[in-house]
Amino acid sequence: MKISKRLLKIASMVPLDIPCADIGSDHGLLVKYLLDNNLVPFCYASDNKKGPFERLKKNLSTYISQNKVEVDLVDGIKNLTNKYKTIIIAGMGGDLIKEILEKEKDKLKNIEYLLLSPHGKEKELREFLTSNQFQIIDENVVYEDHYYEIILFKKSPEIVNYSTKQLEYGPINLIKKDETFINKYQDRIISNTDLLNNHQLNHLRIQEIKETIIKDKNILKELNC
Ligand SMILES: C[S@@+](CC[C@H](N)C(=O)[O-])C[C@H]1O[C@@H](n2cnc3c(N)ncnc32)[C@H](O)[C@@H]1O
Repeated sequence: MKISKRLLKIASMVPLDIPCADIGSDHGLLVKYLLDNNLVPFCYASDNKKGPFERLKKNLSTYISQNKVEVDLVDGIKNLTNKYKTIIIAGMGGDLIKEILEKEKDKLKNIEYLLLSPHGKEKELREFLTSNQFQIIDENVVYEDHYYEIILFKKSPEIVNYSTKQLEYGPINLIKKDETFINKYQDRIISNTDLLNNHQLNHLRIQEIKETIIKDKNILKELNC
């Protein structure tokens, strides 16, 4: 089964040979890919809804019968055991990812890596995790009809301080200056300018959009793009 460019990029960032948990696994295709390619020894795949849960069980049936996957119909990371050192959460809003992790903050003590791909609120998620002893060790932006951010956090012995700019755009993104990352902000400037010019917006929203355009332009200028 072919997996999307986004899931392929996520798979390429998964820490190798470490048991991992895919929360909100839905179709289970990421977990299937990781096991098909022997990238991790065993996995946990969960979802909090019956439809996706049945789907992931079907797609992972071979690995379930080989005891290489534990599946669970549960909210968030409530049932996660300390066998799993990597948590993957992809394809959800950044606020929902933060809520899932914050609700069971104690479980994060046992976690080495968090591989997260939020839809928006990246800054809030970076802020939350870096103030809870995780540092950012890799980042990528993928384009597949939308721009998707993927962030790899690693447990850190001490709190690493990041600037507001790093929290907002991603410290590794700013170093890598990857073409897709640059395109994301060039496109955002264009769509925000269009919003300002062609749509009825309230005063607060206009102010917010203007500030975002200025910030994005400044970042691109700093990066010489
Ligand atoms: C858009 S899908 C993303 C699927 C897959 N992770 C991916 O990136 O392709 C989001 C999935 O998260 C599940 N989900 C939402 N909230 C959840 C929660 N609190 N706990 C577990 N799963 C959740 C949804 O049921 C859905 O199957």
